[in-house]
Amino acid sequence: MHSLSSLRTKLEQSIAALSFQDKPVELYEPIIYTMNLGGKRIRPLLFLMGCDLFDGDIESSLRPALAIELFHNFTLLHDDIMDKAPLRRGKDTVYKKWNTNIAILSGDTMFAIAYDFLTEVDPALLPEMLKLFTQTAREVCEGQQYDMNFEKQSSVTIADYIQMIRLKTAVLLGCSLKLGAILGHASPVDANFIYGFGENLGLGFQLQDDLLDVFGNEDKFGKAIGGDIVTNKKTFLYLKAMEVAVPNDLSALKHCFSDPKIQPKEKVNRVRDIYTRLDIHEKTKDQIDIYYANALKCLQEIHVEENRKEELKALAKQLLFRDF
Ligand code: IPE
Ligand code: IPE
Ligand code: MG
Ligand code: MG
Ligand code: MG
Repeated sequence: MHSLSSLRTKLEQSIAALSFQDKPVELYEPIIYTMNLGGKRIRPLLFLMGCDLFDGDIESSLRPALAIELFHNFTLLHDDIMDKAPLRRGKDTVYKKWNTNIAILSGDTMFAIAYDFLTEVDPALLPEMLKLFTQTAREVCEGQQYDMNFEKQSSVTIADYIQMIRLKTAVLLGCSLKLGAILGHASPVDANFIYGFGENLGLGFQLQDDLLDVFGNEDKFGKAIGGDIVTNKKTFLYLKAMEVAVPNDLSALKHCFSDPKIQPKEKVNRVRDIYTRLDIHEKTKDQIDIYYANALKCLQEIHVEENRKEELKALAKQLLFRDF
């Protein structure tokens, strides 16, 4: 079995070895820029860990794992346009550095290359893997559309929100692990449990992302703080605040999310103050704890020796309690 750090090293080496020298350069330069910006690389790592858990071959799984990182980076290029985000991984977003058309096209190209890399797997396993990947890609788009819809929709419930983040974020973590597990010839039952582990991890992961968007440190997080508030995202933080707010805070919050005359900085400060008063940070943490426990329950069901699961447990903890 491989350690987390040795998988990470192998992964970084194969990313460094990627070369996109094709033309036109306007299309490929942003791909190189994005892939070399770093990031946590959690999805390809999960892919490899899923494979390793069932003793699959790591060397031949590296490029298929990269398919997931390419797909993820494609979604970020488009997501930053939709969210009007200026910063990603501490640097200019692609649509800011170049322009929107380039970010769309480079993103599309990464999606195509992702398929190319994924199809390098054992042909006997390819149909099942392609089906899962394609289904997941559709779900991510569905989630992103709900995310957009909710910016304008006033009646969003916490259950709506959870379903939205399940689609836009959690399924890709589940998919990464399950694709790796399929390559490792896991039984269908175990492959589904590892998917469940990833799905719960993904729900907690997105909640932590939403938390950092309000309370994080810009240098560590690498994204502009307060972006979700500026774009009226109906995050767990907002919905929880609406649920527990007393009338004064409730009307202040509604006002902040509906009056376009409030300047962005002022809006972020006012909303953050309300969240702080209502203890939303702790309430979100409690929900993350629930997903962490659910993820561990799924992991427990998998039929491999317990000591083989330690690295996955450690990674889950790192991710759900991160500050970046
Ligand atoms: C960002 O994903 C999008 C979300 C689902 C929150 P990551 O936080 O994994 O981004 P990188 O790849 O590490 O930059
Ligand atoms: C992004 O959610 C999910 C996808 C990119 C599919 P966010 O919009 O919260 O991600 P960040 O915060 O920009 O990374
Ligand atoms: Mg978004
Ligand atoms: Mg975004
Ligand atoms: Mg976010």
